[in-house]
Amino acid sequence: MSVGLNEVLEPALRVGSRVGQFMPVAIGTLIAATRPPFDLYLKHGLRAQHVLFSERSAPLTVEALARLADSGVQALYISYEDRDAYDRYLHDALLENEELTLAQRYRLTIAASKTVFEAAYTQNDLGAVVQVVEQVGGHISQRLLSQDVVMNQLFDLMFHDYSTFTHANNVCIYSVALARATGISNLNELAAIATGALLHDIGKRSIPPLILNQAHHLTDAQKRIVRRHPQLGYEDLCHEERLSWGQLMMVYQHHERLNGSGYPVRIHGDEMHPWAKLCAVADVFDALTSDRPFRRALRVEEALRHLRAREGTEFDSEIVECLIALMMSTT
Ligand SMILES: [Fe+2]
Ligand SMILES: [Fe+2]
Repeated sequence: MSVGLNEVLEPALRVGSRVGQFMPVAIGTLIAATRPPFDLYLKHGLRAQHVLFSERSAPLTVEALARLADSGVQALYISYEDRDAYDRYLHDALLENEELTLAQRYRLTIAASKTVFEAAYTQNDLGAVVQVVEQVGGHISQRLLSQDVVMNQLFDLMFHDYSTFTHANNVCIYSVALARATGISNLNELAAIATGALLHDIGKRSIPPLILNQAHHLTDAQKRIVRRHPQLGYEDLCHEERLSWGQLMMVYQHHERLNGSGYPVRIHGDEMHPWAKLCAVADVFDALTSDRPFRRALRVEEALRHLRAREGTEFDSEIVECLIALMMSTT
């Protein structure tokens, strides 16, 4: 049975007992007239308790969703144990729907990913972060990019604001597309690359936001602080058994350059993991094509010219040429 907001504001039907037991799901991923196979909760009250909004298999009505939207509610919550059920719901009801256009599928993927990613990213429990990010990586790699996608059409749909989620999401999309273009077709491998890309800048959680969001170029001292993020990210994640060596190297080596001019340890190309080479190109392309506090985004052609001028010295030539081919292709 579905209940309205006013009814929920009465005594709680059921209250979550443990902090961290719930994960947010964006309202935009719930469809009216479906029967979601999971309980949906609303966060309520000063103590932000989770109260039951709709029981599993109850029909979700247009009116209930409209009331949520009118109240400014952007996310409901599900129990962590139901995340596989939510994943299947998304898969069946949304992302496998062949009538969806690329734009609709992209927006749904983003809506499904953004809320959970941002909620997870600020948690201290890195095991939980990795699990959630793996799920997001699955959405992006297996559902968005498993079909042939025209990258420059997708580029027009993407956001380019360099915020934490947008940048992680974009680097994930480019890394997976580049991995496919360089011959990786195994879905598990692509999903692993997607997860590594989503996590690549996680070390920036330890950098003061005032430095990260500064509106002008960084001083040398500030640069030294920012340049610690690959090491910090690696140290945060290296005990996570779910992550592979390749994924950790995407975090640790994505600012290294083939000619040893990168950081944190100025290794050369032959020491860089192949996934880190993908991530390095994806990372710089997104940084160049995004609006930054200190400059406007470059046009795609300008960003590709910048990368081509550095292929073979800083960036892997094959990967850069793959990116150019992907972005220039219209079919
Ligand atoms: Fe980075
Ligand atoms: Fe980055």
